[in-house]
Amino acid sequence: MLAFPRSLARLTRAAAACLAILAAPAAAQEMRGHGGPVRALAVAPDGRLALSGSFDSSAILWDIDQGLAVSVLRGHDSSVNAVAALADGRFVTAGEDGRVLIWRMGRPEPEARPITHEAPVAALALSPDGRSLASASWDGTVRIAPLAGGEARVATTQRGPLNAVGFAPDGRSIVTGGHDGALRIIPLDGGTERVVELGLPVNALAVAADGEIAAGLADGRVIVLSAAGQQRGQIRAAETPIVAVGLSPDGRRIAAAGIRGSVAIIDRQGLAVERVLVGPGLPVWSLAFRPGTEELLTGGGDRLVRRWLATSGEHLGAVIMARPTDALTRLADHPGAEVFRACAACHTLDPDGGNRAGPTLHGVIGRRIGTAPGYDFSPALRSMDIVWTKETIARLFEIGPTAYTPGTKMPEQRVTDPEDLKDLVDFIAKATGAE
Ligand code: HEC
Repeated sequence: MLAFPRSLARLTRAAAACLAILAAPAAAQEMRGHGGPVRALAVAPDGRLALSGSFDSSAILWDIDQGLAVSVLRGHDSSVNAVAALADGRFVTAGEDGRVLIWRMGRPEPEARPITHEAPVAALALSPDGRSLASASWDGTVRIAPLAGGEARVATTQRGPLNAVGFAPDGRSIVTGGHDGALRIIPLDGGTERVVELGLPVNALAVAADGEIAAGLADGRVIVLSAAGQQRGQIRAAETPIVAVGLSPDGRRIAAAGIRGSVAIIDRQGLAVERVLVGPGLPVWSLAFRPGTEELLTGGGDRLVRRWLATSGEHLGAVIMARPTDALTRLADHPGAEVFRACAACHTLDPDGGNRAGPTLHGVIGRRIGTAPGYDFSPALRSMDIVWTKETIARLFEIGPTAYTPGTKMPEQRVTDPEDLKDLVDFIAKATGAE
């Protein structure tokens, strides 16, 4: 477990729910996909797609440049704590429910369930040769599964919860960070493990291509150690526990996020803070550098994925910035257009807009639920008996998709201001030609 109250995840979810109510009108105007803080982030090796995991139990695949949600992945019962992108184009999610799932683009169900833990999974790591996946759990084990298929094996068992895991560059040992304050370097061929006592819970770690290890601790420090576990130095990156650590693709920078929100960009060689990100979207819960660019992606309490230039600290904006569709441009002055922006990352309105992560809403008024052509609906939606009208769509966002359409893969969101809700459904009806 991370070094903050174990119930925090639940508290945060509860807080997110409250916030949704309190901040409804403003919230509806922001472009977002998730219904809860973004807990985990990964970018595919080609730098094009990002995967985010949320406390809302969904994962969303984003096209970073297009600013669109490509698909919503629903396979976990609770928070998605860790995600990874595989070199072969597949994606991995791991959750508080102890499951590790592998997804292939375009398929609504997980392709494989390589690992199951007895407690929440806290972290994932890929072997440098891309053949194995390791998961670290609060059940005290690291399990390693071959990605080509086959049984997972237990690589280590600790007494306490594990928060972090990484592979050595040669793939022959793993590094773990535990709640017990120990960093362990564990040879996978059965050699003797090396235990480095750091004294405080290790919440996150990253292993560089040269084997150096950066470990984020519960007191806000980042400790840098050699591949053999010798401490080279340390730096205070935050005043609060570190929740995420990442390494830039060239290995020159370490990014470390503290739980109250600061993100420090650290020069790895000199161990000096180059800059601290300031701007919207804090507190940050997760981060990932974007291969092929100087960008850092962060996921945070505002439920958005944001882009930053790691070299200057400049905030480039939120990932979800779907280009306005024709209908949005045509009806830009309609008060509901602003409210609909929260939906635009996943839904188009135009006849030729097609399906995004969600089905096209063209023709939605008068349409039976789960019947938009060419869209792979969840079994839950397909089996329901609702016809979409202004009233039923309003009800959907008044009480939220989870309550109105249990089992849906649309992330939880509500529009709690009655005026906003009325404007939204009126806008959808006009924009899709129903009125
Ligand atoms: C992060 C992506 C995402 C966002 C944001 C989103 N939706 Fe959805 N929506 C979906 C997905 C995915 C489905 C399909 C759900 C399923 O199959 O269970 C869906 C389904 C729907 C449906 C049912 C469609 C049908 O044909 O049965 C409606 C209506 C809808 N969304 C409206 C909205 C509106 C209005 C908003 C903004 C307030 C919104 N959605 C925001 C992803 C999203």
